[in-house]
Amino acid sequence: MNIPGPEPQADGGVGAVAAAGGLHTYQLRLHAEYGPVVRFQLPGAETAVSVADPVLLEATAGIDKRPERLFAFLAPLFETGNLQVMPADEHGPWRRLLLSVLAGRPSHERHFAQFTALATALADGWAERACGEPVELQKDLTALSLRMICAYALGGEVADPDGVVAAFEEVLTEHLGQLYGPRAEGAERSREALAHLRATVDRVVAAHRPGGRADSSDLIGALVEAGERPARIRDTVMVTMLAAHHTTGVAVSWALHLLGRHPDVADRVADELDRVLGDRAAPDYADLRRLTYLDMVLKESMRLYPPGPYGARETTEALVLGGYEIPAGATIFYPIWAVHMNPDHWPQPEKFVPDRFTPEAAAGRPRLAYIPFGLGPRACEGAGLAVVEAQLVLAVLLKRFRFRPAPGHEVTPIERFVLWAADDIRMIVSPRASG
Ligand code: HEM
Repeated sequence: MNIPGPEPQADGGVGAVAAAGGLHTYQLRLHAEYGPVVRFQLPGAETAVSVADPVLLEATAGIDKRPERLFAFLAPLFETGNLQVMPADEHGPWRRLLLSVLAGRPSHERHFAQFTALATALADGWAERACGEPVELQKDLTALSLRMICAYALGGEVADPDGVVAAFEEVLTEHLGQLYGPRAEGAERSREALAHLRATVDRVVAAHRPGGRADSSDLIGALVEAGERPARIRDTVMVTMLAAHHTTGVAVSWALHLLGRHPDVADRVADELDRVLGDRAAPDYADLRRLTYLDMVLKESMRLYPPGPYGARETTEALVLGGYEIPAGATIFYPIWAVHMNPDHWPQPEKFVPDRFTPEAAAGRPRLAYIPFGLGPRACEGAGLAVVEAQLVLAVLLKRFRFRPAPGHEVTPIERFVLWAADDIRMIVSPRASG
């Protein structure tokens, strides 16, 4: 049986993706028109298949390979090979090591005070703004999450954290910029910034002593103790910062965008924060577990605006999916956004309804109906840490402020490696006490 999809075009599919405004919206359209399994053209992928049905996705959940050409643009960031497409035998032990740090409660707890201080500093800055002047949420919140991941990945040993943040921004602007259109200037600055970042990691590695300083980096400590070579440690810090930074920042800004448009939900969150925190301005780590409605709001926000709008795999052997035969070597897309908007599992999918995530409601859905962190052996290792960070930042901000959309400002989601708002998300931030 042939997989349904649009007629092949002479341009190899480039025009159709551009006309739809990017791959994420193209996938939404394709699935609306052709059903849950769609074949389409994409430069660099001979057979590209997108699967938006959570039950059919199960058949792909064991695939342990990403398509190299799709991620080739990241290769210059790495010294030991592109970590996004590492071979499975190398990736398995690396993943287990990362999970042993990133997914562990002790590591989250140890960095919690530092994260709280950074979130509070941002809130203090917003409180000092002229009344009524809109805040650019995306800009400020991605900067905050970059600060958090720098503090986390490099520990407190770094002499010049602002310099590291600036260097990382320089590198990212250059490399992601190339993906979305060439930049004439910047290559030299980016090379210097990359060298600065690598030298910074080397200094942290050199200073590492088992059981050393209380604010040492858990991540680098684990990599050193596992005997990883210095270049692989540098690469791992780079990929962690890359993967952690925009994703967590936009998760929080999309949540605030939705809350600003749903005051009834925002009131319920505020009530929960008052009940759990009392007079305290920020939660303790142990409080997060009690902020159950906030957690549902975050989940529903990441359903409607998944920070990573799609993932991809390459089949290593032929497989049958919903009656269709997919050859070995095919590119399978996980169209995360289209999966989250699948009306078979999400009635009125465009509506913001946090109660979809009560334990009872969630238990009635297939496992892969909600996949903001991807799935299978290459799923996000940072999911646990990301949720802790996002919940903490939301709790600090929503305990203190109310958010309203800036009048006349239009918010348009576009794909820019993450699901990004084209012209930021501008909101009026006012102290809660005064309404
Ligand atoms: C809300 C925030 C985040 C979201 C929505 C997110 C989402 C994702 C997605 C969709 C993938 C691709 C998964 C796949 O191909 O199946 C991914 C990969 C990854 N993420 Fe995250 N992520 C977030 C935060 C973080 C954080 C905080 C870290 C680290 C501290 C992190 C580390 C990684 C790494 C290392 C990978 C590569 C996985 C691999 O190749 O094994 N992410 N993430």
